[in-house]
Amino acid sequence: MNWNDEITTGEHEIQQALHASGRLPQHIAIIMDGNGRWAQSQSLPRLAGHKQGVETVRDIVKASSQTGIKYLTLYAFSLENWKRPQTEVRGLMKLLEHYLNKEVDELHKNNVRITAIGKLNALPKNVLTLLQAAIERTATNDGLTLCLALSYGARWDIVRATQLLALDVRRGKLSPEDITEESFSSYLTTGSIPDPDLVIRTSGELRISNFLLWEIAYAELYVTQKNFPEFARTDLYEALLSYTQRERRFGLISSQLDTKNNAPQSSYLKRVVDALTNR
Ligand code: FPP
Repeated sequence: MNWNDEITTGEHEIQQALHASGRLPQHIAIIMDGNGRWAQSQSLPRLAGHKQGVETVRDIVKASSQTGIKYLTLYAFSLENWKRPQTEVRGLMKLLEHYLNKEVDELHKNNVRITAIGKLNALPKNVLTLLQAAIERTATNDGLTLCLALSYGARWDIVRATQLLALDVRRGKLSPEDITEESFSSYLTTGSIPDPDLVIRTSGELRISNFLLWEIAYAELYVTQKNFPEFARTDLYEALLSYTQRERRFGLISSQLDTKNNAPQSSYLKRVVDALTNR
């Protein structure tokens, strides 16, 4: 199914209005939290929360692609998550396997490029094989880049990058004086994707949980009380609306910024809010 054929008029209006701001983020990163709490609130086992989370992933990937977002990074499994009860870890790996088996065709048809960051060789062999096949198959797509953070930890990535960089110094490929923020970034597993502009965290927790510590230096943060399984595309649009209204100063003062960065017109805000509330 071509996702662009599925967009309803109301939805189109929201997306158009958000585009009109000229300030959509290029890269959104999501800390998908609250699956367990959602399951508990429904008197269901934790795994049912993760299953419902996969449904949310499907729709948020689609909505991001339809809205013209270029990069979406999802924190799907942290290095620390390996220490969860083995039944939960196995369940999550099964869900991942199922997702990669079932969804790659549709993602590919919709021009999505799949990529992944993290300590991928720690994944079960069948998951890794499916992931590598998905990455290879979609490598030349130029729509949304969907980056799955799997077995990921930001400190692990920074230490690994430092080790690789030190090896290059030892081999004479690089001198310590040539180490810059840019060259350091290129050693991270995120080296080939731009830094996130917007980080969304669900379930109300006010922390970063070892996610993209280096890359989010200037990202805007958006926290919603909704648990991830109940995070709908309208919640994504609200996060985007909030983002378009922010002034990103990168350490400068307002008057030094390009006028393009001035807050959007109130007519624009009215259009988005009307479109969101009329759905
Ligand atoms: C955090 O909720 C969520 C996770 C550890 C896993 C997220 C995984 C998915 C949404 C499904 C798999 C993803 C893909 C890309 C197919 P939690 O369990 O920590 O919730 P809690 O804090 O309420 O217990």
